[in-house]
Amino acid sequence: MVTGKLMKLGQRLGCVLALSVLALVLWSVPGTKALDNGLAMTPTMGWLHWERFMCNVDCTEEPDSCISEQLFMQMADLMVSDGWKDAGYQYLCIDDCWMAPTRDSKGRLQADPERFPGGIHHLANYVHSKGLKLGIYADVGQKTCAGYPGSFGYYDIDAKTFADWEVDLLKFDGCFCDSVKHLADGYKHMSLALNRTGRSIVYSCEWPLYLWPFHKPNYTEIRQYCNHWRNFGDIFDSWQSVKGILDWSSSNQDTIVDVAGPGGWNDPDMLVIGNFGLSWDQQVTQMALWAIMAAPLLMSNDLRHISPQAKALLQDKDVIAINQDILGKQGYLLRKEDKFEVWERPLSNLAWAVAIRSLREIGGPHSHTISVATLGRAAACNPACLITQLLPVKKELGLFEWTSALKMQINPTGTVLVRIKK
Ligand SMILES: *[C@@H]1O[C@H](CO)[C@@H](O)[C@H](O)[C@H]1NC(C)=O
Ligand SMILES: *[C@@H]1O[C@H](CO)[C@@H](O)[C@H](O)[C@H]1NC(C)=O
Repeated sequence: MVTGKLMKLGQRLGCVLALSVLALVLWSVPGTKALDNGLAMTPTMGWLHWERFMCNVDCTEEPDSCISEQLFMQMADLMVSDGWKDAGYQYLCIDDCWMAPTRDSKGRLQADPERFPGGIHHLANYVHSKGLKLGIYADVGQKTCAGYPGSFGYYDIDAKTFADWEVDLLKFDGCFCDSVKHLADGYKHMSLALNRTGRSIVYSCEWPLYLWPFHKPNYTEIRQYCNHWRNFGDIFDSWQSVKGILDWSSSNQDTIVDVAGPGGWNDPDMLVIGNFGLSWDQQVTQMALWAIMAAPLLMSNDLRHISPQAKALLQDKDVIAINQDILGKQGYLLRKEDKFEVWERPLSNLAWAVAIRSLREIGGPHSHTISVATLGRAAACNPACLITQLLPVKKELGLFEWTSALKMQINPTGTVLVRIKK
């Protein structure tokens, strides 16, 4: 879908390309200001329907997996009864395909009347009664990616409608926008319109994703308007897709890591743990690296059918604590050596998280040794540190002196995540 989106955008925006070369300047963004709505002080956690349920609108053939209020009510019930809410997953989010094909007589968006007979306000009330929050989806352009009414020309009306419905998060997509200027103006306009409603609404953008084909996004500016922002194409339920996102993130880390912090985060897209495409080790890798990257944790899976193992991984308190660490600094790839990547993330109280990821896709478990002196800007283990392995299983590894080595066995495509304390 994203390839399609980008091509569409590419054809339309060809004319602006020449001008935007001027914007290809390097900048540094230490401690830049975040969108001032008091939200997303740690990365957003919740559930988002897209990857698992996509645009299934056929409630006759597939009543249990079509995009309907029943699906969201069932997920809300399970988020509470099965420990997801207690683990921190609070936002239940609707993606594309919830709308009726046209606006109402007053120009307002409306939910599909057959699939959402109670309407979105009713669903929000239900979700709030469970102690959860409701997210909704709209698009900055003429149409949503799946062809439903876009918000172009209706930003104020739509922001007010979402606030009237007591929605708590807006995912704002970037399909069918006819110029880079309209894209930027639209994302900013909606941010201000949401603010003017007076309601606290997390603002999830895809602005940089749609800008990259034309010029390097100005993340300082994006951070002033959005609580999180997608940089790269949609995730799929495959190892290839997760790997692609990790490779993109490490290749662009000089641009994206420093801009993340309380109130504004890079969004590498949904967690696909608990679905069909990833092996156990690959699910561990996604969970570990999304924690290192301070990524929003938006699961897209079927909470009615999920293995105990995937559930335990997604609800792992220690890993979630790393993701939600209050220092709010995104981790980065420290080095790549001998078919392993070493990632690290600074945590509060001078602690560090370190992930060692195997790039091998053949053979069995392989051992890798790292000198602890190299971790945490050479400070994490000076003069000594306690290391706890968190993934794939929790295990105290003990006390390490500055000169010692840490040796691990890592499965192909898998990751070992550890926490280091002075
Ligand atoms: C709107 O923005 C102002 C400052 O720019 C901020 O103080 C206020 O809390 C914001 N309101 C909401 C509802 O986000
Ligand atoms: C990026 O945006 C910020 C804030 O709007 C602005 O101060 C800065 O000049 C912009 N940087 C570039 C390279 O355009």
